[in-house]
Amino acid sequence: MNNFNFYAPTRYEFGRGVENRVGELTLALPASKVLIICGQGSVVRSGLLDRVSASLDQAGVRYEILSGVCPNPTDDMVYRGIELAKQTCCEGIIAVGGGSVIDTAKAIAAGAVYDGDFWDFFSGKTIERALPVGVVLTIPAAGSEGSGNAVITKRDGLHKISIRTEHVLRPKFALLNPELTFTLPPYQTAAGIVDMMAHIFERYFSPTEGTEVTDRLCEGLLKAIMNEAPKVLARPDDYDARANIMWAGTLAHNGTCGCGRAEDWVSHRMEHELSAVYGVTHGAGLAVVNPAWMTYMVDHRVERVAQMARRVFDITGDNDPAVAKEGISRLRNFYRSIGMPTTLAELGIENPDFDLLVKKLHENMGEVFGGYYPIDAKVSMAIYKLMV
Ligand code: NZQ
Ligand code: ZN
Repeated sequence: MNNFNFYAPTRYEFGRGVENRVGELTLALPASKVLIICGQGSVVRSGLLDRVSASLDQAGVRYEILSGVCPNPTDDMVYRGIELAKQTCCEGIIAVGGGSVIDTAKAIAAGAVYDGDFWDFFSGKTIERALPVGVVLTIPAAGSEGSGNAVITKRDGLHKISIRTEHVLRPKFALLNPELTFTLPPYQTAAGIVDMMAHIFERYFSPTEGTEVTDRLCEGLLKAIMNEAPKVLARPDDYDARANIMWAGTLAHNGTCGCGRAEDWVSHRMEHELSAVYGVTHGAGLAVVNPAWMTYMVDHRVERVAQMARRVFDITGDNDPAVAKEGISRLRNFYRSIGMPTTLAELGIENPDFDLLVKKLHENMGEVFGGYYPIDAKVSMAIYKLMV
C-alpha cells in the first residue's frame, strides 16, 4: 500500500427532509448572501427550489439564482456565474442538482475570488482558494457532492477538462435526500449507476500491491450497487434502494476507495472525449468505454480484471483470460439489463471519428497517461475500435 493523506471535510446530512436544513447550514459556512445554481428545470418542477429558497429565507440568507446549467456543462455558464457572484458580493455558492450543476458551482466558486480567467485553473494553475460550496443533491452519479473535482467543457474546441483538488473544491456540506431522486428518468438513474461503478473501477484497476481493504471496499460497493439497481428501476420510489444507491454514489468517488493506491482514469478520459464531441450522457458513454477498456486489458494486463471477475461476479476457473472475459460479458449483460448501451452505435454514434477522438484525448492528457496500463495514441485507437 502507498503512503497517503486523506482529508475530506464535507458534512453529509442524509435522509428525508434534509434539504430543509440548507438555510441553517449556509448561515454556518458562514454566508449571508449566496448564489444558487440549478439546471434546466427539474428542481422547479419538483418544488425543490421553492423549499431551498424558503429555508434560506427562514435563516435570513439572501440569494441570487442562476438556472439553466446543461448536462456536460460549459464555460459560458461559469463566466455568467462568476460575474453575478462578484457583482452581488456572494459569500457562498449553493448547487441544487447533479454533477453538472455542482461542477459549475465549484468552478464559479474558484473564479469568483480570482482576478484572472477561471479557465487558467483548467489549464493547470493551482486553485488556492474558493468560495464555500453547499450541495443539495438530486441525482446519485458523478459523486461531485463529495469530490474535490470539477469537469467543465470549453466550447471553443470542445475541450472537456477535469480538474482535481485535494480539498479546496470539496463541498462544505452535502444534503442527500433519497426521495429527491424518485423523479429521475430511468435512463438517468441507470447512467448514474454506471458512472458510480466506473469511479470504483478507476481506483480498483491499480498497479499498487497490498491493498486488500480498499479492494474489498470496491468489490463490496460494486456488488451492492448491482443488487440495488434492478430495485430502483422496477420501483422508482423504493426508499431504501434509492438510499443505498445514493450513498454508494458518494462513497464511490469521495476518495475512500482510492486511499493508498495509484488510480487509472483512462476510461473516464476516453469517455470525456465522447461526451465533449457527441454530447452523450457521461454514464451511458462509460457503459461503452469500460468493457472495451477491460477487453483490451485481457491481452495486456489481465490480473485485476480477472480478480474483479472472480470476486464481483463469482466466476470460477484458473485461466485468468477466460475468467476475465466471462466477467466482462457479465458486466455488459448487467449494463444491458438496466437499459444502457454497450456499443457506440447503441449510444447513437453511428460513424465515430476515431482520429478526432484520439487526437483530442492526447492533446488534453499528454502523449502517455493512465495508472494501471499507460496508454499512447496507438493503444487508445485500439480501445476506441473495441467499442463498435
Ligand atoms: O437540468 P435538470 O432539469 O435538473 O435535469 C437533469 C439533467 O437533465 C436531470 N435530473 C437531475 N436530477 C433530477 C433530474 N431529473 C429528474 N429528477 C431529478 N431528481 O438529470 C440530467 C443529468 O444531470 P447531470 O447533472 O448532468 O448528471 P450527473 O450527475 O450525471 O453529472 C454529469 C456531469 O458530471 C461530470 C460528468 O462528466 C458530467 O459532465 N462528472 C463530474 C465528476 C466530479 N465532479 O467529480 C466526476 C464524474 O466522473 C463526471 O465526469
Ligand atoms: Zn464519472
